[in-house]
Amino acid sequence: MTSVIDRSIMINKKKVKNRILMPPLVCFNWGNEEGFETVDRAEHYALRAKGGTGLMVVEATAISREGRITDTGIGLWRDEHIPQFERMAHACHQEDSVVIVQLVHAGMKAVGTPVYSSSAVEVENKQCLELSLEHIERIKAEFIEAALRAQKAGLDGVEIHGAHGYLLSQFTSKQVNARNDQYGGSLDNRLRLSLEIVEGVRKATGDDFIICYRFGVNDPTLEEDKYFAKKLEALGVDILNVSAGIGANSKNLVPPEDYPYSFITYMGTEIFKQVDIPVACVFGIKEPKQAEYLLENEMIDMVAVGKGLLADPNWTNKAIKGEGVNICYNCAPWCKYGKDGKTCPWYGK
Ligand SMILES: Cc1cc2nc3c(=O)[nH]c(=O)nc-3n(C[C@H](O)[C@H](O)[C@H](O)COP(=O)(O)O)c2cc1C
Repeated sequence: MTSVIDRSIMINKKKVKNRILMPPLVCFNWGNEEGFETVDRAEHYALRAKGGTGLMVVEATAISREGRITDTGIGLWRDEHIPQFERMAHACHQEDSVVIVQLVHAGMKAVGTPVYSSSAVEVENKQCLELSLEHIERIKAEFIEAALRAQKAGLDGVEIHGAHGYLLSQFTSKQVNARNDQYGGSLDNRLRLSLEIVEGVRKATGDDFIICYRFGVNDPTLEEDKYFAKKLEALGVDILNVSAGIGANSKNLVPPEDYPYSFITYMGTEIFKQVDIPVACVFGIKEPKQAEYLLENEMIDMVAVGKGLLADPNWTNKAIKGEGVNICYNCAPWCKYGKDGKTCPWYGK
């Protein structure tokens, strides 16, 4: 019998061969301060693509030097950054995977000083300044330029990082955004920057380029999230990759007691009910049977397997064949990949 994972899905005009998505996972310490890789990522991603994964999302990539999450993260703020992505795109395409890259501005969570956010909030030992309207325009342009570079590199699309407390979350979330201009206050105002970026990227890259949005739910309520998801769909976003927002730990969203997955997965399956575009959910999905249950019960369109794919590059093919996979150890406090960008107790076994 064919595995429920092994069903293709259309994302924009691209056929993704199955329902597993590799979510963005930063390869820490694999780069330099100028946004260039120092360790070849083509091989890293090609291995997971060869392992069967249908949709690959290359890790958080800075749209500007100012917006970097770490000082070893890769970037797309200069044309010289394009070749490293060309190599990743080519390597994944060779293995018949669709591949996009996540674009990020970290806002107040960026390295260096000063840092900028929607508002001048307190950040430990760091000066955080409120973005001026001119600066916001510049950031919008940088997202669009980075997307155009991704397109030039031959990638199939981009994922705009709107989750995990980075800049776009800092605009959508009332917990950070205290502005009183057109980018703050009402829900529509707080969503404005994300929507303008999506609109700008679509206009610049054309209809066929995949736009994915990493959606941070519970910023601050699920009701607001549903409204936002529909707005993104109306603007032509092709897929929502749902994860946590700044308010993720608030009590606004509590899954039913018998819900068999994490509350982050729950958020994805709730957003799935709201839109007609494909939605992916994530978090703690380590075994094929967990992904199969979500797909079989039509709770989601795609399942994102993060640490599972670090621990076992062949996760997807093994899942499709009904074979056992290497199970991620959930290394505390963070996975070994997170520490040095490559060591995982399972990987290489
Ligand atoms: C080492 C590491 C790096 C990550 N890097 C990113 C990133 O670049 N962008 C992002 O949106 N999420 C990032 N995440 C979060 C993952 O995409 C994913 O949502 C998370 O690992 C939960 O899924 P999992 O339980 O399947 O691993 C990272 C997680 C880990 C462990």
